[in-house]
Amino acid sequence: MMLRISNLREYETAYRKSVEEPENFWSEIAASFTWKKSWNKVVTWNFESPEVKWFEGGQLNITENCLDRHLSTHGDKTAIIWEPNNPSEKGRTLTYRELHEQVCMFSNVLLKNGAKKGDRICIYMPMVPEATIAMLACARIGAIHSVVFAGFSAQSLSDRIQDSDCSMVVTSDGAYRGAKEIPIKEVVDEALRVCPTVQRVIMLERTGANVRIDAERDRLWKEEMGKVDARHEAETMEAEDMLFILYTSGSTGKPKGVVHTCGGYMVYTAYTFQNVFQHRPEDIYWCTADVGWITGHSYIVYGPLLSGATTLMFEGIPTWPDAGRFWQTVDKHQVSVFYTAPTAIRALEAAGLDYVRPYTLNSLRVLGSVGEPINEEAWHWYHEHIGKGNCPIVDTWWQTETGGILISPLAGITPLKPSYATLPLPGIQPLLVDANGKEITGNGVEGNLCIRYPWPSILRTTYGNHERCRTNYFATYPGLYFTGDGCKRDEQGYYRITGRVDDVMNVSGHRIGTAEVEDAINQHPDVVESAVVGYPHAIKGQGIYAYVICTKEHENVDMLREEIKAVVNRVIGPIAKPDKIQIVTGLPKTRSGKIMRRILRKVAEGDVNNLGDTTTLLDPAVVDAIRDGAISG
Ligand code: WT7
Repeated sequence: MMLRISNLREYETAYRKSVEEPENFWSEIAASFTWKKSWNKVVTWNFESPEVKWFEGGQLNITENCLDRHLSTHGDKTAIIWEPNNPSEKGRTLTYRELHEQVCMFSNVLLKNGAKKGDRICIYMPMVPEATIAMLACARIGAIHSVVFAGFSAQSLSDRIQDSDCSMVVTSDGAYRGAKEIPIKEVVDEALRVCPTVQRVIMLERTGANVRIDAERDRLWKEEMGKVDARHEAETMEAEDMLFILYTSGSTGKPKGVVHTCGGYMVYTAYTFQNVFQHRPEDIYWCTADVGWITGHSYIVYGPLLSGATTLMFEGIPTWPDAGRFWQTVDKHQVSVFYTAPTAIRALEAAGLDYVRPYTLNSLRVLGSVGEPINEEAWHWYHEHIGKGNCPIVDTWWQTETGGILISPLAGITPLKPSYATLPLPGIQPLLVDANGKEITGNGVEGNLCIRYPWPSILRTTYGNHERCRTNYFATYPGLYFTGDGCKRDEQGYYRITGRVDDVMNVSGHRIGTAEVEDAINQHPDVVESAVVGYPHAIKGQGIYAYVICTKEHENVDMLREEIKAVVNRVIGPIAKPDKIQIVTGLPKTRSGKIMRRILRKVAEGDVNNLGDTTTLLDPAVVDAIRDGAISG
């Protein structure tokens, strides 16, 4: 049996053991999975290279643990409930047996179309069960999936496909998102013009949109599934073989491909899913993320399926047809565990209680929050109006790079404190350091959040560029994994994440690098230079504020702003569009040419009378001009 924690004393015992005897601790947990061959060594690691290996010598296939293993005991249990975008369209459910069969069939489709173990396969799909089937089929044949969120632009998609030399793309004709229909296949066609490594596209028909089919390259999901049989023996994988690549933004350069491997990721996502949400077999579990993000990978697909849970996949958006959609869906499917992002909570709170009142919400037992700091106001609204005061809220802090939740309450066990992620999970050794890397000990302190010991689902590398992994996460504070987050530890030892301390923004729970947005803005022909910062935004958490220098004076500044937004939309996607664009004639630079973002952040925040020391600037006068032209409100 998996080590299940059911009270605070057990948590403390498990935590102590995980620190004192980490190898015994994790090998006992790992032993509850199906391995084709047991491991020789639980962990080997150093944070200098860095190199981390878990369960080396062990062999497994994660999909046998997600699927095959459950068939004899609960093959007829619902694995996936699918709720479509349009509430009047009929949904679907798949039992574990049906999901297993679909995954085996699609594994055969991939093989028949030339995919091999170790190949990279890009998945660019809406939130339909086939997205999960495609991910699991990749894992089953030993191909490495790279899921790209279907809101990203053709250019973002082709960047990601090229970076990992994908040989295949799995996609759909179109996608429904609220009242909109999105031409997914068109985006893929455009992206693939510059992706010569892609030999094959498999397209699911979702909307019936009229799309161009390349007779050489493209195949239809339905037709291919009709040609294969339903038996497939899962490929044998080494514990440290790559399971997937997922691209995420950093403070510099293009998004990087975070790499997770089979064994450690499996053990950690299942362990954390079961303990954080205190999973019960009868739960109906709903995580509202998209499978294009790590939350979808770990807590829609792998964690729940490894645990034999019923996981709900929702295709739509929270505000369509109206702002009651989440609550209607909770009642309709009798959801007991509901996991969403603060930005959604704030948006639905702003829509008003009239959208909540028609629903009982009495199936709910546990609420979760993820993606950004949850402000106290939103926490209380969620607790009172959605949880009716009797559902614990697990505020789960983690990252794409961590693979699973690192700091979080255990539902109903850890005492809660609004806006605090509370305590580290077993196996996680957080510490706070100051700017010089010196550990800040004791309680009632604040610093940069680091982790001193590996856990099974820590990233192993960034695809194709190990040095980037080293410099990004392991070089700032030698010997430690640096998260990029600032953090408080209160008098009780509870952790509260305060937000990024690097040039990464968190917009509606999406991670966006300032440098990425600047590069996109600079593609506008009239733009000379730009600087982007985040600023507090009531719904999104952070909004995007861009300062832009142009080659010439524009008569119609509003039109210029719209053009710049359109460029960003085309280069990255709608999630990265700046909220505010201020045209400036100069940027505050130091004598060495470095932009002083501190000043730009202050102006964007509206704190123009508190700009601090500006004497080191090359030309202090630019600050006055920027202050005078600031966009408020
Ligand atoms: C960054 C990671 C991992 C899930 C989705 C986001 C912020 C995430 C919390 C939380 C405060 C949070 C951090 C982190 N973040 N969860 N509960 N409280 N901040 O994954 O895109 O890799 O972003 O999101 O700043 O570093 P991601």
